[in-house]
Amino acid sequence: MNRRGFLEALALTGAATLAGARPRFAAAQSVPDVEVVVRPRQPGATIAPHLYGHFIEHLGGVIYDGVWVGRDSRIANVDGIRKAFIDDMKAIGAPVFRWPGGCFADGYHWRDGIGPSVRRPRTYNFWQTSTPEGVRGFETNQFGTHEFMRLCHLTGAEPYLAGNVGSGTVQEFHEWVDYCNAPAGTLSLADERARNGDVHPFNVQYWGVGNESWGCGGDMTPQEYAQRYRQFVTQFPTHTRPFLIATGPRGHSADRDVGWTSGFFEAMQGGRRSRVDGFSLHFYTDFRQTGFRAATFTPKEWYSVLLKGIGIERAMLENWEIMGRFDAEHRTKLVVDEWGNWYPPGEEIAPGFTISQPITLRDGLHTALTFDIFNRHADKIAMANVAQTINCLHSLFLAHEDAFVRTPVYYVFQMYRSHMSGRLVPIEMGETEQTVTAEEGAARMAVVYGSASVNAARTLTVTLTNPSLEAPVNARVRLDGAQAIEVTGQVLAHDDRQAANTFVRPTEVSLAPIRQTIDGQGVRLTIPKQAVVSLSIRMA
Ligand code: AHR
Repeated sequence: MNRRGFLEALALTGAATLAGARPRFAAAQSVPDVEVVVRPRQPGATIAPHLYGHFIEHLGGVIYDGVWVGRDSRIANVDGIRKAFIDDMKAIGAPVFRWPGGCFADGYHWRDGIGPSVRRPRTYNFWQTSTPEGVRGFETNQFGTHEFMRLCHLTGAEPYLAGNVGSGTVQEFHEWVDYCNAPAGTLSLADERARNGDVHPFNVQYWGVGNESWGCGGDMTPQEYAQRYRQFVTQFPTHTRPFLIATGPRGHSADRDVGWTSGFFEAMQGGRRSRVDGFSLHFYTDFRQTGFRAATFTPKEWYSVLLKGIGIERAMLENWEIMGRFDAEHRTKLVVDEWGNWYPPGEEIAPGFTISQPITLRDGLHTALTFDIFNRHADKIAMANVAQTINCLHSLFLAHEDAFVRTPVYYVFQMYRSHMSGRLVPIEMGETEQTVTAEEGAARMAVVYGSASVNAARTLTVTLTNPSLEAPVNARVRLDGAQAIEVTGQVLAHDDRQAANTFVRPTEVSLAPIRQTIDGQGVRLTIPKQAVVSLSIRMA
């Protein structure tokens, strides 16, 4: 596309945003050309929908005020759960929720959260010492197992329960399994569940054996944890075939924490009765020890966050390689059950919302780059869970009382939805790279990042991100061995790199259609600067 055509495209795309809204991005000086080659006929792994999973913890405003408003609330709710949250989670096909923590999980005793709500005890919450003075930090247990299962049922998501290894017993863990999964009329615990309102078993398949057992989950060595793990899983009650997830490494450590992985699997050798289906990897794009801010940042800080974020690929690959030394067939898959940006405290979105932060366009682009990595390694990952879905780090929503907004991260989940269950197909972005200046100095980045998949109806989804703060990119997406017959596309962009949705301006950043043209075997489009695009291409 020539410069005139490009400017017309930008004008058109801007005009396609909400009526009356100002154009969300502006033209820049030089426009690189990139040829993206997609090979839809080649085989590839299935992208598990669970790569687009969620994590909610009893932490700050995540559960109380975020998810749970209470049955008597004037805020629209279904059985106490915020209705807007249910509706939006359904709309993106949320596949799974991890609950109740996080660090909270290793202090949680599930019995405190069942039975009549007025009789439930008030208990200690791991996070209460980080809660500001004057704000209630203890746990009321109003949101317990049944309320969580109701959330899963209402949204269509599967439950993933994180068990208490740090301060609980093997017996307590197994009784939770019985309570959730045994058919009514068999075990007494199943009858108790039925008396508490749920006759049908919850059939929970995903069970986490502790959380961050190297840290808040028990401060163990990998050898100590391996021994605990064996005890927790050997007599695991199998009412339904479980998917057992062991605590894995702190992937954002400087050395990717590979010592945890080798130490654990070495200590597990010979444990023939102790299956490990999933190995949890946590990766925070961690800026806690810096002067970075979530809402305001320089161009250098923009690139620092994106560059550090794509480091998740190295953490996955190095740990995967070590796992392969003990399990050549790779029966154990990675479960990236906490990932996201983590900025220093000081910008909490409401009083008492511990580790909550504003979410900007930068976090939206980070999400897209992360999803492209997950897609490209779909053969290695069984699940991934964003930390955390609402009122926390890297959230899809901010909510306080009756205010509720979708963040740019939500829109990226929406754009990537059609990758879920798709067949991964190879994508090449050409050789084009650029030099960017981050806080750490000059660095190389691709001009365009992306991934592609084909669904059962032969529709090709291509997602593309232009990380540049300077220039749009003219892209030609060439389909190798296939013909595009119809294309639609969406773009998440804004001319302000710090753009965010707030309670005052809830729709500042949102999706808009993007103009593109079918050209021979491919599609041409201009990707605005600092933008994510998703294309849905019907093929002949
Ligand atoms: O997501 C916040 C916390 O980060 C979790 O509770 C913990 O697992 C991790 O350290």
